[in-house]
Amino acid sequence: MKENRRSFLQIASAIIGGVMGLAAGIPLIGFAISPAWQKGESKWVNIGLVDRLKNSRYKKVNYTFTAKDGWVKATKKRSVYVTDIGNGEWSVFTRICSHLGCLVRWDEGQESFLCPCHGAVFDKNGAVVAGPPPEPLQKLEVKVESGILYVKEI
Ligand code: FES
Repeated sequence: MKENRRSFLQIASAIIGGVMGLAAGIPLIGFAISPAWQKGESKWVNIGLVDRLKNSRYKKVNYTFTAKDGWVKATKKRSVYVTDIGNGEWSVFTRICSHLGCLVRWDEGQESFLCPCHGAVFDKNGAVVAGPPPEPLQKLEVKVESGILYVKEI
């Protein structure tokens, strides 16, 4: 009888200890692995002084920024084409081709973006004119603050 009571108490305390361990451990595990499911946050990135970009027409601008994606914090390089539309309006296109990611270049003579990889042609508004890209060139969201042009990086 005494043996039964002892083994019952051992089993009961093992179960209670296990449940308490799980209750304490699950939030810790969630905290440790949650960054893996987090997408990179969008952020505004300074790409230059408005005074320097004034009257630009499809001007190539390169910039870097740091972004956190999951556990990884990395410096990323970007290249865009900036146009001053006037009246405080700006147009900024990424150079990343929507097909497989090659960098397009602006051709002033053809007034088009050309992709060297598979012959894609995008018009001056980024729409696909020829080639395999499934989508237009991405136009980035922009804002001007304190004389600085910012683009929204995703
Ligand atoms: S990557 Fe630009 S057309 Fe294929």
